[in-house]
Amino acid sequence: MTEARARGFRSRAAFKLMELDDRFGVLRRRARVVDLGAAPGGWIQIAVERTGAARGEGRVVAFDIGEMEPVPGAVILIGDVYAEDAPARVLEALGGPADAVLSDMAAPATGHAATDGLRAVALGEAALAFATRVLAPGGTLALKLLMGPSSEDLVALVKRHFGTVKLARPKASRKESKEVYVIALEMRHPNGDPDDSPTKRP
Ligand SMILES: C[S@@+](CC[C@H](N)C(=O)[O-])C[C@H]1O[C@@H](n2cnc3c(N)ncnc32)[C@H](O)[C@@H]1O
Repeated sequence: MTEARARGFRSRAAFKLMELDDRFGVLRRRARVVDLGAAPGGWIQIAVERTGAARGEGRVVAFDIGEMEPVPGAVILIGDVYAEDAPARVLEALGGPADAVLSDMAAPATGHAATDGLRAVALGEAALAFATRVLAPGGTLALKLLMGPSSEDLVALVKRHFGTVKLARPKASRKESKEVYVIALEMRHPNGDPDDSPTKRP
């Protein structure tokens, strides 16, 4: 049995979020949190526990293109982050603007490194665009990124929107993995302003 299973987690990814939260304080008590790419649910298990949503104190929304088993304390939405109505659906389920957006989204690997890299950056951009629409000013974004030719551009884009941006590689990430997490704190712009959309900038 894996360590994750032994500890009752659905994925080893749970350890990564615990570490990121311990270092950067991503999950505040009673916070409204949305987790993009949430299945099978390891991050959601951590988020409901640490926000208090498991006891009805915070609000946690899991969003994924695929189905997942229910997690007590979380609302599960099935959808594509590229869909026009994704931010509105999540805002309605949260009951107001989010304090934190988490994204551990990953597209299925094709095995072709350049294609996989481009897809990963596109998903990162989609998560950033989503975050600027649903986060409250001062909110937090924790975003998975695969290091590659375009990853620096994405980090630069994140920096336009947030006061503090750090990169972290959790110990729980596999050694061969190119993943890092962008931790962006203190979102600058009011949510919902179309001019702030990162996809609209040159
Ligand atoms: C690495 S898994 C996430 C693991 C999760 N953080 C956990 O703790 O169990 C990546 C997820 O991203 C989801 N995903 C990929 N593309 C997506 C998209 N366009 N919209 C929403 N979810 C997406 C996949 O379905 C997959 O479940």
